[in-house]
Amino acid sequence: MVNFIIDGKKISAAEGTMILEAARANSISIPTLCAHETVSRSGACRLCVVEVKKGKRAKIVTSCLYPVEEGIIVETKNERVMNVRRLVLQLLMARCPESEVICELAKEIGIETQPRFIPDKDKGKCILCRSCVRVCEEIVGVSAIGFSCRGADKTIGPPFNEDSAVCIGCGACAYVCPTGHIQMEATEDTRKIWGRTFKMKKCDVCGRYFAPEDQLKYISKKTGVPLKELAICTNCR
Ligand code: SF4
Ligand code: FES
Repeated sequence: MVNFIIDGKKISAAEGTMILEAARANSISIPTLCAHETVSRSGACRLCVVEVKKGKRAKIVTSCLYPVEEGIIVETKNERVMNVRRLVLQLLMARCPESEVICELAKEIGIETQPRFIPDKDKGKCILCRSCVRVCEEIVGVSAIGFSCRGADKTIGPPFNEDSAVCIGCGACAYVCPTGHIQMEATEDTRKIWGRTFKMKKCDVCGRYFAPEDQLKYISKKTGVPLKELAICTNCR
């Protein structure tokens, strides 16, 4: 076990635990956007910054990627941290002025809605955190989406912004997206995402539409479970 202090509270945690998890386990809240429990960390949003003091040295780190160390003193809300967090949020607000999640976080720490930086009009709600790409690669195993273009023009989507032939319509990308950038529209028997419309499968028992047919075919192919056995929704299993 490693012993350290967060916001004046003595804490012990297993070696390798990130400061973010150690803080949360002790009811100390740190705001986050890109740290989703289902995907590996990217440290992209920088919202989870904290100050770590080791001896006489103090530095600002991202708490979702910084493991606890013996004897460190962590501050999650001191003046220096709040100044950095405010700046990060102002930049995120300028990139994604339509994101309700970002505006709400900004309001919570007392940032007025008047933008400090000139807002972009063409980025939607995407903060380029890559969580959607990671879940598609790491969990689903499909890699249907990625970044295209560079620098300020970087966007997320299927290659060449064309309909993806490999997307199975599972919606995992929309689920992990912290800002609501990914649009997924559903009717009773269809789901529309990334420009493609997927036909939904009806549960053989209750008759409810529950998953895209392409997703079930993909799972069947990957796992060897016959498609017939996958045609029952989780409620009826
Ligand atoms: S679409 Fe969402 S999850 Fe994907 S990079 Fe943008 S903000 Fe992150
Ligand atoms: S939550 Fe840590 S960098 Fe985004």
